[in-house]
Amino acid sequence: MRIVLLGPPGAGKGTQAKLIVQKYNIPHISTGDIFRKNIKEMTHLGIKAKEYIDKGQLVPDELTVEIVKDRIKEDDCKNGFLLDGFPRTVAQADALNDVLNSLGTKLDHVININVDENNLIVRLTGRRVCPKCGASFHVAFNPPKVEGICDYCGAEVVQRADDSEETVKNRLSVYYKQTQPLIDYYTKNGLIRNINGEQEINEVFKEICNVLGSDIK
Ligand code: AP5
Repeated sequence: MRIVLLGPPGAGKGTQAKLIVQKYNIPHISTGDIFRKNIKEMTHLGIKAKEYIDKGQLVPDELTVEIVKDRIKEDDCKNGFLLDGFPRTVAQADALNDVLNSLGTKLDHVININVDENNLIVRLTGRRVCPKCGASFHVAFNPPKVEGICDYCGAEVVQRADDSEETVKNRLSVYYKQTQPLIDYYTKNGLIRNINGEQEINEVFKEICNVLGSDIK
């Protein structure tokens, strides 16, 4: 199963991705997570990416595309993968098509999660993440069992540097300009499936599972 998860910042892509990869046993490829790991390790890529991410801008295609191309050629992607946060521009979508063609395969599903802009801002400014294991929470909608502490590894949860209100607004305007055109792109080739992301997390997951062709157990 080769899946792309589309949706604006805060739509719940990361939250749903974790549930999907667990159920379907495919690797989760999140370009945002790859960049954050590189920023933490202060690699050359991380230092470059941070310049853009901190301002809410997209990391240039030439830095992003090669990472994904290499990743999906790895052995564990042979039976499928879930792309979360990629593609984000038409050039990235074209590059993805090219690499899949060269591997003799194609995408099976493009899942587009829709959420109203005001809710996106509330979700992102209230998000807390675990710097140790990467788990994501929300102070109101999905709080950790013990306030401020990760349910899974016990580390203190923090706010992501790009989740301040000002940067969130920048990320949203970048999304409308550069990423939203992909909805048309994937509608034209009949792949897009729209999901109502305004429901409770498990309800969103059920809708996605229905689209992917199997009911949630
Ligand atoms: P990335 O990490 O991909 O960020 P994003 O797309 O902005 O998405 P988010 O991770 O912010 O949100 P999400 O949709 O995953 O929502 P989540 O599940 O966490 O990218 C970060 C940056 O890296 C980009 O800005 C860019 O600079 C760069 N980058 C990455 N990929 C790139 C690319 N391909 N090209 C160029 N640059 C790239 O949920 C959000 C919150 O809502 C959480 O608190 C969660 O608990 C809560 N929540 C989730 N679902 C629900 C629900 N149903 N109801 C209530 N609350 C919910």
